[in-house]
Amino acid sequence: MSDAPALRPFLPTDVPVLAAIFAAAIEELTGDDYSEEQQQAWAAVAEDEGAFGKKLASELTLIATLRNAPVGFASLKGKDHIDMLYVHPGAAGQGVASMLLDALEKLAGGRGADKLTVDASDNAEGFFRKHGYVAKQRNSVTVNGEWLANTTMQKTLGAKP
Ligand SMILES: CC(C)(COP(=O)(O)OP(=O)(O)OC[C@H]1O[C@@H](n2cnc3c(N)ncnc32)[C@H](O)[C@@H]1OP(=O)(O)O)[C@@H](O)C(=O)NCCC(=O)NCCS
Repeated sequence: MSDAPALRPFLPTDVPVLAAIFAAAIEELTGDDYSEEQQQAWAAVAEDEGAFGKKLASELTLIATLRNAPVGFASLKGKDHIDMLYVHPGAAGQGVASMLLDALEKLAGGRGADKLTVDASDNAEGFFRKHGYVAKQRNSVTVNGEWLANTTMQKTLGAKP
C-alpha cells in the first residue's frame, strides 16, 4: 500500500472520525492564536455529530487518507467558498491540506467559480497566503458563546499565486 496521501469523496460513515479530526486539529494546532475557552467552544461544534454530518453532506466534502485512514478533510460551500479545512495534528506539515486545497480549487473551477473565498482562522492565514489568498476583511464571529476572530481571504482562480 502506498504511503502517499490520497483523496476520496466523503461518506456518511466518516462522520465520527472527521469529528475527531476536527476537535484534535483545533485543540492541538490553534493554541498560539486562540484561548483555551475559544478552542473549546470551536471544537464543540462537532459534538452534535448529527448536525456536523448534515453540514458535511450538504457541502462538497473531500477526505484525505494516509494508508486508507482519514487524516484530513475539506469542504466547498456553493461554488466559491471554502467552509472547512482540517488536518489531524499527527499528519500536519506533510502537505495534506495543500492537496485538499488544490483539489477544491479545481472543483470550484469546474463549478464555474472565478474566485474562491475562505474565512481563515488566524493560525491558517499564513497557509492560505502561501497558496495565493489575499486578506480582504477582518471578522468577529460568535461560536458557542465565544467571540473568535478570522479573516476573509480571496484568491482569483487561474491567477498565479
Ligand atoms: C491549517 C491546516 C489545515 C494546515 O494543514 P497541513 O496539512 O499541516 O498543511 P500543509 O502541510 O499542506 O502546509 C503547507 C504549507 O503551509 C505552511 N504553513 C502551514 N501553516 C502555516 C502558517 N500558520 N503560516 C505559514 N505557513 C504555514 C507549511 O509550513 C507548509 O509549507 P511547506 O510545504 O513549505 O513546508 C492545519 O494546521 C489545521 O487543521 N489547523 C487547524 C484548523 C484550522 O485552522 N483550519 C482552517 C480553518 S479556515
